[in-house]
Amino acid sequence: MSKLSIVILAAGQGTRMKSEVPKALHSLAGKPLVQYAVEMAAQLISEKPLLVVGHGADQVRRAIGDQVIYVEQREQLGTGHALLQARPLLEGRSETVLVCCADMPFLSPDTLRRLLELHEERKDPIAMLTVEADDPKGFGRILRDEAGQVVGIVEEAVATDAQKAIRELNCGVYCFDGDWLWPHLAQLPLSPKGEYYLTDLVAMAVAEGQVVEALKISDVTEVLGINDRSHLAQAEALMRQHINQKWLLEGVTLLAPALTFIDATVKIGQDTIIYPNTYLEGATAIGCQCRLGPNTIVRDSTIGDRCTVEASVVEGAVLEDSVDVGPFSHLRQGAHLAKGVHVGNFGEVKNSYLGPGTRMGHFSYLGDATVGQEVNIGAGTITCNYDGERKHPTVIEDGAFIGSDTMLVAPVRVGAGAKIGAGSVVTHDIPPGSIAYGVPARVRGKVREE
Ligand code: UD1
Ligand code: CA
Repeated sequence: MSKLSIVILAAGQGTRMKSEVPKALHSLAGKPLVQYAVEMAAQLISEKPLLVVGHGADQVRRAIGDQVIYVEQREQLGTGHALLQARPLLEGRSETVLVCCADMPFLSPDTLRRLLELHEERKDPIAMLTVEADDPKGFGRILRDEAGQVVGIVEEAVATDAQKAIRELNCGVYCFDGDWLWPHLAQLPLSPKGEYYLTDLVAMAVAEGQVVEALKISDVTEVLGINDRSHLAQAEALMRQHINQKWLLEGVTLLAPALTFIDATVKIGQDTIIYPNTYLEGATAIGCQCRLGPNTIVRDSTIGDRCTVEASVVEGAVLEDSVDVGPFSHLRQGAHLAKGVHVGNFGEVKNSYLGPGTRMGHFSYLGDATVGQEVNIGAGTITCNYDGERKHPTVIEDGAFIGSDTMLVAPVRVGAGAKIGAGSVVTHDIPPGSIAYGVPARVRGKVREE
């Protein structure tokens, strides 16, 4: 029997989001909402948590993959019914069942550890998290007797005005005794709204003469629940602040933190300086001593040390050390710029390798190209890689010099050290060391040996 199992409830539609996307998959700082709960569970136990899915289950499965064990709730009949779906997997197998929701991304593992400790110490059937809030709207309210003991939770939809005035809220996070939980869960009454409320377990335990423990936390933001887009916007701002603060403390300079948008998935090296209006997104890693921005987007890319990217968009690209890009360039999927490459303004690179020290200063497009080291790509050079049906490769070998406004009609190869004159249209391979120019380009001589 394992000591602790974690169940994350995520089957709800999230009606208040007014969305085709299931609530659990709405993006928060670049990660699906439910991913925060999944990662928190991983900090507490080594076994996978159970994720109850229903609305948009297939989409959730695709996004979260094998990080969790899935339990399907086919009809969304309430939080109690959602948890009940985990019964066949957990009954008799788990001493303690910790339940939380997919829509509470700020909950800290420390708080959960404290809740688990309380449960461990008292051995009552339920220990739960509560918090006092000035604006308790939408939450279940905690009912206590004169002695201050918790006696129940009342949902806002069925609360009296006096109950609505209660400021202590149910956070929706519970720790249950495994043996007690399952038989009781199966007996939950149907609520007036036609759902099985998990919260009704509290009154059930109290009616049996059991004690329900409440751990009252002090930080309301920790249990900020996301029910609609206004909560999502609030959470986004707060999460961005947390992330920026973390990088500031790690030695990254942010000139204007409020105007810097770093996804939770991004890594940044020390002494990197980020100028305003910069977006670092997805699976992105930035090295040390870089200068990024202003007005830059880096998405799903790896950038080495000492790189500069100014007013440019970098997507699905790899930049080795000491690369500089921009202003106003676009590196697309599969662009790989080796050490010391320079891409100046109005350049576009897609699915291409540029060797060490290669320079492409002005108005060029390289697509499906393999470029050697120390190549000069003259202003306005274009790889004509698409014939209307298929894409073709271009190869430019080490040390070649491509004159301004050259069209490289792929498939084509320019040999090492060759020089192409300005305004050429290269339709045939150019041998190493030759000089070629014209439309179409012809070999007209040899590069003088120095
Ligand atoms: C719930 C609590 C409320 C508490 C609040 C804290 C109940 C009845 N109410 O209300 O006391 O203050 O959380 O945030 O539990 N879900 C399912 N299947 C369902 C219904 C919901 O898996 O059939 C999941 C949702 O995906 C969500 C979680 O359960 O992750 C909570 O559901 P939600 O509708 O957000 O409950 P609240 O109204 O916020
Ligand atoms: Ca909620």
